[in-house]
Amino acid sequence: MRSKDIVIIGAGAAGLICAAQAGARGKSVLVIDHANKPGKKILMSGGGRCNFTNLYVEPDCFLSSNPHFCKSALKGYDQWAFIAQVDQYQIPWHEKEEGQLFCDNSSKDILDMLLADITKVNATVEVLTQLKSVEKQTIGFKLGLEKIDKKKNVISTEVIQCQSLVIATGGPSIPTLGATGFGFQLAEQFGHKVHTYRASLVPFTWNNEDKPWFSELSGISLPITVTAKSGKQFTNQLLFTHRGISGPAILQVSNYWQPGESVKINLCPSVDVLVELKRHQQTDGKIQLKTVLNQWLPKRLTDKLMERYFTNKKLAELNSNEMSLIANQLNHWHFIPGGTEGYRTAEVTLGGVDTNDISSKTMESKLVAGLYFIGEVLDVTGHLGGFNFQWAWASGYAAGKYV
Ligand code: FDA
Repeated sequence: MRSKDIVIIGAGAAGLICAAQAGARGKSVLVIDHANKPGKKILMSGGGRCNFTNLYVEPDCFLSSNPHFCKSALKGYDQWAFIAQVDQYQIPWHEKEEGQLFCDNSSKDILDMLLADITKVNATVEVLTQLKSVEKQTIGFKLGLEKIDKKKNVISTEVIQCQSLVIATGGPSIPTLGATGFGFQLAEQFGHKVHTYRASLVPFTWNNEDKPWFSELSGISLPITVTAKSGKQFTNQLLFTHRGISGPAILQVSNYWQPGESVKINLCPSVDVLVELKRHQQTDGKIQLKTVLNQWLPKRLTDKLMERYFTNKKLAELNSNEMSLIANQLNHWHFIPGGTEGYRTAEVTLGGVDTNDISSKTMESKLVAGLYFIGEVLDVTGHLGGFNFQWAWASGYAAGKYV
């Protein structure tokens, strides 16, 4: 029977950095993944250029039922530590906006770096391998593995022993990349509480009333400010799609949205519409409403709003009620999403393994000695912009130092 100091389930961002760190301490490490290659989400991330971290990482860029939990790991391995590693490998990168760091070339640079670190310390990654059973022993674990040889379509099994078991299986967003809720089931098997989880950093879909009006605006993008019921606010682009609304501002606010709630969208964040309408009315009352709105909004959007909500007239003909209605619609659009696009397109899973039973310093379970949870499987979710990878690096590194 093979025996390893550490077995890590999941060769994603958190699992790979944990393996390199633990291997550097002289531990024998095996990483298994059921997908056909490691780091599939890394490869797909950031539109193929991996937004690998953010210059402005702060604990309040993360959501968790236990908001203090992430602080120790984020401090122990911060964005500068990861940037130093990227620089050591001479991977070219650039800042895109709001501190978001992307590879100049390809996400593959980041994955290659992680795999090179793993090779250096003789840790091994075995793909097309599934964990089928876990048995806790007096010291360590006995694991039942199943190997899938896709070419020969043969399944072989193996039992392996390890002292520590690290769960780095992420969350179920984008199942086609191998994502599963396996980590949650395993956590529950060992008595851990799992917070309700859902797709997040995800586009909203139209409700039935708005859909027929707005779905043909697909492709229009404009800067907006969106506010969640909690008051959390984001200013960035909104993109109309056939199915609903997307774009960075919408993905960000989806972390703070609950089904049934509305979000408030300011379609003209740099214009106080009521003030400007009144000003135009006094200075140029002959101008048509549509002409004024076209100064602030894409033309196709103005046309649709006019068709649905307003009558086109000269500004001089608008009464104060009508002006308030127009201003409200533009500066305070209360939009009720029909739902979200779900795990099919979500960048992350919000919620997950309760962190109250996990050591914030080592990521070890307080309930089961030798069992560790890292990365997205934990109830820690970052904003859009490199924060989720930074959490994967930081939590993976923390576990790798102690496992
Ligand atoms: P991750 O999901 O990376 O890895 C988990 C691994 O476990 C996978 O390889 C999976 O195959 C494996 N696995 C699952 N179940 C298993 C089982 N039962 N047995 C064996 N293996 C199993 N974040 C960011 O900061 N910047 C960005 O640019 C992006 N971009 C982005 C784009 C897209 C399309 C997505 C879907 C997500 C992002 N993210 C992101 C989010 C980021 O990818 C995510 O938060 C991290 O990859 C999480 O790292 P983990 O290692 O925790 O899980």
